[in-house]
This record gives sequence, C-alpha cells and structure tokens, in this order.
Amino acid sequence: MAKFRAISAVSEWRCVRGYSGRILRDSPAPRGFKVVEYHVGVPGDSSLKGKKMLFFADLHYGSIYPDTDACREVIEDISPDWVVFGGDLITYACQQDNAFRFLKGVFGSSDAVKIAVMGNWDRRRVNWYPLANWEDAYASVGFRLLVNQSFLGDGINFYGLDEPRMGHPHISRSAIRKDCLNCIVSHNSDVLIDIGLEAYDGGRQLFLCGHSHGGQVRLPFFGAFVTSGKYWKFFEYGLYCSRDTLSHMIITSGLGKTRLPFRLFCQPEFVVIYFE
Ligand SMILES: [Fe+2]
Repeated sequence: MAKFRAISAVSEWRCVRGYSGRILRDSPAPRGFKVVEYHVGVPGDSSLKGKKMLFFADLHYGSIYPDTDACREVIEDISPDWVVFGGDLITYACQQDNAFRFLKGVFGSSDAVKIAVMGNWDRRRVNWYPLANWEDAYASVGFRLLVNQSFLGDGINFYGLDEPRMGHPHISRSAIRKDCLNCIVSHNSDVLIDIGLEAYDGGRQLFLCGHSHGGQVRLPFFGAFVTSGKYWKFFEYGLYCSRDTLSHMIITSGLGKTRLPFRLFCQPEFVVIYFE
C-alpha cells in the first residue's frame, strides 16, 4: 500500500525543465560556477511579483573553495530578496569555520532574508555539535536555521524540514498558509514525496531541494548515474511542476562534491528564482 502511495505521489510530478533545458545566466568560466535561472509564476496581486530568490545547496566546503569575491560580485549583481541554503555545508568538521567564514564573506553585506536547512552531512555530527550550536553559527553569519520550523517573510512562508536520514522531519498541516506562497525547503526531495506535501490544502507551494548533486557525474543523453535518492532519476535535477496543484519543485546540482573528487558534465551552480 505504501509502495502504491509512493508511486502515485511521484507520478504527481513532471519535470518541466531538466538539465539540458535550463537557462544559464552568463557566468564566465574562471568563476568556476554557473548561475541558473528559473521563472515561477505567482498570482497577479501577489506581493512577490518582480522579486528574486537565490538558492544554493551542497557547498561541501573543502571539496571546493569558491572564490569569495566572485561569488559576492554575482550576489550583488542579482541583489536577491531572499537567500536560501539547502544544506550540506561541509563534508568534514575541520572545514566548518572556513565554511561559515565563506558565507559571511559572500552574504555579509546583503540585506536579503537568509534561510538555511540541515543536510545529511551536517546532521550526522549533531551528536557532538548540537543543533543549538548550528543555529548560533548560522545566526553569526546572518542566516536563520529552520529545523521543522517556519518563518514568515514578506509575502512568503518559509518552512525548513529536518534532514530525513539522520533527523526527524515533520510538518503539520497548519504550517501551510493559505494566504501566501509556502516555500518548503528540504535537503532531500524524498521526504516531500513521502509526506505527500503537495496535496496539503493551502496556498501554492514552492519546494527547494539539493542532495542529488544532479548526479555529480552525468553522461550525455543519459544524465545522472547516482542521485542518492529513493526515486533515482525521477528527481535528479531541474524544475518540476505538480500536475494537480501547480506547485513547483526545484532541485539543484549544488556546488561541491562528495565521494568522487570531481564533477563530470555537471557544473557547480547557484540558482536564481524570478517571481513573475
Ligand atoms: Fe551533498
């Protein structure tokens, strides 16, 4: 029965812009990353119209060392209203201070509301580095860490889910608001499907996920081999739309690397979401 529910929940989604169809904003090669654009429609009277959100995930600081100045330049150029980090800040604890220093260097001067969630690589060290410490560390660089918590921004209701492999994600129906866009951030897209969130009554929802790394190694005409997700290639990368509710899901390939020390045909990226 659970299997049938999962299949039904997965088939609710269709990929409307995959890896080959993404829109790239100009980002010269020396920067080492791309900027990918998505355009999400909102109702005509929505206060979100014309606003921008920057989304990135899977930094795995230490597997890469992004140029702080180059990143800050791009962020200043985009001037987002919100910045969302989708988890997996680091792979190894020795890079934690450097990773937060990087976040401060890139986003320290931005007025955007900044949100973060936990990734599986972050969550696994909670036994000796408690969530309260993570919250404080994120707060020190201007980010609000959401672990099964919501935060009401200007016309948008953020909800950050805990990471499912190491943590305990949960959300109540009352956390979904009917009067504005709900932005549900979950490191791993599996949990959104398993909970069946797109069926919750409420306003339109935007789901933001990382974790898959877009496969990290992609083959031409095939795409990802490995996504580290239960639904394999179905949620590997891109912009998805729910057939029934018209909610959107964006899965990013992230910035860093794990397991293999390289990416193949799968560039590191920042995502910009334009609300139109
Ligand atoms: Fe990751």
